[in-house]
Amino acid sequence: MSDAYVGREQTQAKHFILKRYLQALAFKVLPYFDVTYVDGFSGPWETRTEDFADSSFMIAISVLQDAQAKISERPNQRRPKIRCFFSEANAEAFAQLHDAVAPFNRPEADFEIRTHSGKFEDAVDEIQAFIGTSFPLIFIDPTGWTGYPFEKIKTLFTRPKCEVLINFMYEFVNRFAHSEDEATIASLDPILGGPGWRDRLDPNLPRGLAVEKLFRTTLQSAGNFDFVVSTKIDKATDERPHFFIAYATKDKKGLITFRQTEYDALREHAKNRVAAKERKRENKTGLLDLFSSHEAQIVEGSIDQIVEEQMVLATNDLLETLPLYGPFAFSSVVVGLLQAYMLRETNVKDICVTLAKSGRIENTWGGGNRKPRDEDIIRLRQA
Ligand SMILES: C[S@@+](CC[C@H](N)C(=O)[O-])C[C@H]1O[C@@H](n2cnc3c(N)ncnc32)[C@H](O)[C@@H]1O
Repeated sequence: MSDAYVGREQTQAKHFILKRYLQALAFKVLPYFDVTYVDGFSGPWETRTEDFADSSFMIAISVLQDAQAKISERPNQRRPKIRCFFSEANAEAFAQLHDAVAPFNRPEADFEIRTHSGKFEDAVDEIQAFIGTSFPLIFIDPTGWTGYPFEKIKTLFTRPKCEVLINFMYEFVNRFAHSEDEATIASLDPILGGPGWRDRLDPNLPRGLAVEKLFRTTLQSAGNFDFVVSTKIDKATDERPHFFIAYATKDKKGLITFRQTEYDALREHAKNRVAAKERKRENKTGLLDLFSSHEAQIVEGSIDQIVEEQMVLATNDLLETLPLYGPFAFSSVVVGLLQAYMLRETNVKDICVTLAKSGRIENTWGGGNRKPRDEDIIRLRQA
């Protein structure tokens, strides 16, 4: 692991998701559309490198520059335009941000950067104009839960194509979600659909998780998104969630890509957590643990165990839903199950293959090693 992230394993997981997701999005979207990347809370924040390589803004610049260059090299391919908008409220951090990104602002080479010194929510009109007709990816990474009131920023989302990643600061929210203090309760209104949010919480969930769920449904309706899912990132050295990265999209391909990115990130994070826990133990006891790399493999594998558990739940869900609402095209099954479960498209293929082998559903996709494709019909096998 890079030294820049020692003790910041959660930030590393966040940056991993951002980087991988941006890469996937850029290569899918840039051949057809220009892209605008908006980082509402840019930093730099607790960075450890001189060139800010461990900041979200530099990660985005480097991924987007690389994608633009590679796509432009393709035969008969137009050179896509990329724009980046970075806002930062802290004057000192802004000065660093401004100087660090200035050399990359090259509108003549179709790579334009705009910076805003001030609050993200106050830059909405400027961002709106800057995005123009391009495809926006908006990254919101606050230190708490304020600064991005949906009523004020939702105009950025109301376009046919738009993707949003939000770092939902679960640990802080969970700490304050039980508060009876009027001001604290009101401070959550802007991301939970306004006053009275406590009455809208799912009573079957613990308070923190119910708030996170309400946050996602509020985001979904504020931006008219088709899909909003989230990834839980645990604290590096404790068994509890630190934050959730919520992802909102209007495109099922985005959902499929995000679930793959999530899986890769969680496996990586699991390994890094073992190393972080081991460092903590060594610092306490002064003893080296010879078994930690073996343990890392086990922990990495535990993500696959979660996936297996999710597959069992999803299989039961599918078998209950098919007689009521089926048959479905395989692509609809994927969309339905990826929203509800932490699964990838490949897992849904395997679920269908297993169900067909056991005679519960029909094999409509052919024999051998074939697996269902988008248009194949998933239906129960008649007795
Ligand atoms: C968690 S840090 C961002 C880290 C950065 N995205 C990264 O991953 O490298 C949040 C940043 O937002 C800034 N900030 C706080 N409130 C803000 C607001 N309302 N608008 C814009 N920036 C804000 C803080 O000064 C801080 O630099």
